[in-house]
Amino acid sequence: MTRPCGSVSYSNNGRVILVTGGANGIGRAICERWAATGASVVCMDVDDAAAESLPEGIDFVKGDTSIEEDCQNAVAFATDTHGGLDVLVNNAAIQPKQSYIPMHEYSRELWERIVGVNFTGYAMMAKYALKVMLAQKSGVVCNIVSAQGHRTAREVAAYGPIKAANLLQTQQWGVEYARKGIRVVSVSPGAIMTPMIRATLDEQGGAEQLANRHPLGRIGEPSEIAEATLWLCSAGASFVTATDLAVDGGIDALAAFAEPY
Ligand SMILES: NC(=O)c1ccc[n+]([C@@H]2O[C@H](COP(=O)([O-])OP(=O)(O)OC[C@H]3O[C@@H](n4cnc5c(N)ncnc54)[C@H](O)[C@@H]3O)[C@@H](O)[C@H]2O)c1
Repeated sequence: MTRPCGSVSYSNNGRVILVTGGANGIGRAICERWAATGASVVCMDVDDAAAESLPEGIDFVKGDTSIEEDCQNAVAFATDTHGGLDVLVNNAAIQPKQSYIPMHEYSRELWERIVGVNFTGYAMMAKYALKVMLAQKSGVVCNIVSAQGHRTAREVAAYGPIKAANLLQTQQWGVEYARKGIRVVSVSPGAIMTPMIRATLDEQGGAEQLANRHPLGRIGEPSEIAEATLWLCSAGASFVTATDLAVDGGIDALAAFAEPY
């Protein structure tokens, strides 16, 4: 007989959440899971074609997080439509196939694009969301980071260091706004099966190798990251701020000294 493993349930009735990059992958799972718990969900993404298949009831606003006006517009859309903003999930980030190169091969253009979306995009979304949250005296910002922000690898010359900077954004904003009713948290996924990971499986040694590098022996599911956001952004995590939660199948704890799996 299988032993019971417990469960939790969430209610987000009346809460408003804005998710960047919510049309695909992890962001989409976050949109869907939060909508299922009663939240009003706004998805901001550049990919309007993918957004067409979002479940009914999820609002979509087209925008590119590397453009400050688009960030301002998405926050204004969420607050104008739903009367406030309780949660911002900074999730939209890029790691294109051509970015798997060492530092000396980077073009300035590719560098600026990754910085623009993955670092400045998180900051500009926070800038406008935090203004609303300060006025409300409440809110949670949740940054989706990466195990690659904690430990590095070859050929992530821009993505890795920027993910480390996202961890520090979480700490800095968490400390800055701690006494204003605002919490700032982050989630660091291990490899999760999304369009981003599917597109770069070769660069990561193939699905089997990638799965095996995680002590749990598999690649994670987008819903497993969505679950972490539900808790971190709930009242159950009211004493949690300026910190990160690894949802990574144990990869961050696996040192390279001993023979890996
Ligand atoms: N998949 C993984 O294994 C993994 C691991 C660690 C961290 N992460 C992080 O999780 C987050 C989501 O990753 P994913 O795997 O779901 O990616 P994905 O590429 O599958 O989906 C990203 C979404 O963001 C959108 N997007 C891209 N640039 C945008 C922009 N400038 N403005 C607005 N939307 C934009 C895309 O259109 C897409 O819908 C990212 O922050 C990523 O770094 C992913």
